[in-house]
Amino acid sequence: MNEVNIDRVIVDITNKCNLKCMMCANRCDPSRNIEMPVEVFKKIAEQTFPYAQKIWLSCSYESLMHSEFNKIMGYLDTECETTLITNGTLLNEDNIELIIESGMDWIFISFDGAKKETFDKIRNGARFEKVLSNIEMINEKKLNKNILNPELGFMVTLMMSNIIEFPEIVELARFLKISSIHCKPVHKTSVLPDNEMLIADDMIYDSFTEGMNLAKKYGIEFVVSTDLEKLMCLIHENNINNSSPLFPNSAGTTNSRRRGWCGEGSQSLQILPDGQMKPCTNWAIAPIGDFTKDNFLDIWNKDTFVKFRKAFDTNTPWKDCVNCEYYMLE
Ligand SMILES: C[S@@+](CC[C@H](N)C(=O)[O-])C[C@H]1O[C@@H](n2cnc3c(N)ncnc32)[C@H](O)[C@@H]1O
Ligand code: SF4
Repeated sequence: MNEVNIDRVIVDITNKCNLKCMMCANRCDPSRNIEMPVEVFKKIAEQTFPYAQKIWLSCSYESLMHSEFNKIMGYLDTECETTLITNGTLLNEDNIELIIESGMDWIFISFDGAKKETFDKIRNGARFEKVLSNIEMINEKKLNKNILNPELGFMVTLMMSNIIEFPEIVELARFLKISSIHCKPVHKTSVLPDNEMLIADDMIYDSFTEGMNLAKKYGIEFVVSTDLEKLMCLIHENNINNSSPLFPNSAGTTNSRRRGWCGEGSQSLQILPDGQMKPCTNWAIAPIGDFTKDNFLDIWNKDTFVKFRKAFDTNTPWKDCVNCEYYMLE
């Protein structure tokens, strides 16, 4: 039996979504009608949550589209840190109450523009003012109940259309009592116009650093993906006017990733709405297990999964990882 040690269990409870965001590959998924049966979620909760540090609801789709979201919330009472990642458009009085009652620790709202025109263009189908009012509703409820959780976060996907507004996004975050901002660069997808990809340009660096410094000034936690950090370091190194390193305490690109491994798949379970399980979002081969049929410990001890995890402790990468765009970021 192999010792079970999981950092994150990421569960997409549905593949439905109400938006068609400009950059999102999943917006074109023709099969957007799967909902995870509540009993499958219950089994996942019972069998995996006791081993995990963190639970994330939604990685690729919109959890609030699940017709039995209320029942799913009933299984989130765990010792782990729980996070809902949402586009924020479908939050309402009822589901906010449920989320609060579930003991959810964080709600991360994807927030890609400080101006209505930018936000509505990128998050196609969303209305800027509706998302703002939903965030205010959460804050009001927390105030009335005199509670701190769920804390609020922004998930910002930076691209050419919104990079210039990044400092204003941070200003809005402060106004909306956001405690944490996670940002990453847009990734290339078949639906994204090429001219939205961030380029190594001083304007981008300046806007990003202004936003980052504002977040620090306001005491907002600021988390940068490894690939964004790498882009900023690249611009910085070319910019002789900048004498101080941007990320002095970084555990990202410049240090831990030097070996080339992303490390992702050895620490997480990625569970899809049909119950299938992969070690990470980019796992491109057959899923390792299926929670509609298999028990978690049988999945964990499957030969492929054991060999995959062991590969992380060696200098020989798992054969399929070398084809992944995140495998070697340097
Ligand atoms: C796929 S969404 C799923 C959760 C939820 N529907 C939402 O929008 O927050 C998760 C995050 O991925 C981001 N995302 C979508 N397409 C992306 C891309 N091409 N590059 C980088 N991030 C992307 C979204 O902006 C969002 O913050
Ligand atoms: S809301 Fe989330 S899942 Fe839906 S299209 Fe936008 S990024 Fe994709």
